[in-house]
Amino acid sequence: MSLRMLIIGAGGREHALAWKTAQSPEVEKVYVAPGNAGTALEDKVENVPIAPTDTPALVGFARERRVALTIVGPEGPLVAGIADAFAAAGLRCFGPSQQAARLEGSKHFSKLFMRRYGIPTAAGESFTELAPALAYIEAASLPIVVKADGLAAGKGVVIASTREQAGRALREMLTTGKFGAAGQRVVIEDFIAGEETSFIVMSDGEHVVPLASSQDHKARDDGDAGPNTGGMGAYSPAAMMDDALHERIMQRVIEPAIAGMRAEGTPYRGFLYAGLMVDADGNPQALEFNCRLGDPETQPILMRLQGDLPALCELALAQQLHTATLAWDPRPAVGVVMASSGYPQGATKGRPITGLRQTDRTVKIFHAGTRQAGDEIVTNGGRVLCVTALADSVTEARRQAYQTVATIACDALFYRSDIAYRAVRRETASGLPAQ
Ligand code: GLY
Repeated sequence: MSLRMLIIGAGGREHALAWKTAQSPEVEKVYVAPGNAGTALEDKVENVPIAPTDTPALVGFARERRVALTIVGPEGPLVAGIADAFAAAGLRCFGPSQQAARLEGSKHFSKLFMRRYGIPTAAGESFTELAPALAYIEAASLPIVVKADGLAAGKGVVIASTREQAGRALREMLTTGKFGAAGQRVVIEDFIAGEETSFIVMSDGEHVVPLASSQDHKARDDGDAGPNTGGMGAYSPAAMMDDALHERIMQRVIEPAIAGMRAEGTPYRGFLYAGLMVDADGNPQALEFNCRLGDPETQPILMRLQGDLPALCELALAQQLHTATLAWDPRPAVGVVMASSGYPQGATKGRPITGLRQTDRTVKIFHAGTRQAGDEIVTNGGRVLCVTALADSVTEARRQAYQTVATIACDALFYRSDIAYRAVRRETASGLPAQ
């Protein structure tokens, strides 16, 4: 027990990463830069006030504290090249290089890459000028999807059901500069119908280890209504996942992506997240790649991971992932996000939250946008908490998560009340417990 670890980021995903990393018997200390009020309360964990974008300060800190391994949570630093900076300084950092992170950093690159390697995805075109983009929209069928090329903090995808809506999104991105450099190019693509699922793997550049499957709930309101968010709740395993679908995703999406990155001289080492749409016949199409773990998918996934997360990352850095064996708790986990009033357009900050005391080992309150203010923990962002429960059935895990949600008091939080509804419906239909 002597290793020091560094987790970069401040969200629920990073709280889960810090919590899981601290469980490793080899780990003496986990630093989180900058972390949140929840990470500060974990055993062996210490927050460090360095922004995830301040690469020189993070490299300096890791060197000075002799950090054995750094795990990067959010996409921004990865797309900006943080893994390359750590490698150049001789520091071990698990996350893709800047070149490899283009899979998320540029939707245009990603679309062309998918085409080059035969990865099933929606037809689409890229534009840097408004007039041809508007002409394309005129001829396209609806709904249509408009995406800013670069990173846009989860706000760069518009599913337009009218040409006016699509035109407005194009103008905002290409002419008003609302998304800055990220919106100077757009990808317009066909809308694909089906059921969405997340599929996340670890890769060492050659070998791949899939994590447990999961399903997010991107819409703000019950019944998948309302605006798109970063994710209002997730559960694992995904109800729709079976061996055949798993195999198809691996063969048609993940393996070609890892082989393609390798063939292009930019091997992908890190967590790779494929956002997929699965049609009624079980055929997956890639909506997007992300160069990181999902949030909130990570929270239920890591609740189920048995074994040592830092050791797995070390295997990946040593390009030995083919020797890894991952074990999962067979019980499902359900995570319910509690978000600030106004989210996703804005967030109410500074409101006190009570009822956060952990009492149960199978329910975990992961913090995201929280901050310690004197004796109080207060809201500090859009997504504030992710209450995650592990139980013998999805129905029971969901019941326990919502039971804890009901004990948390704050006048500026809301949540969806139907997280994991598809899995509960399937469980009920199959005669499994529906309490
Ligand atoms: N939950 C969606 C994402 O992490 O991108």
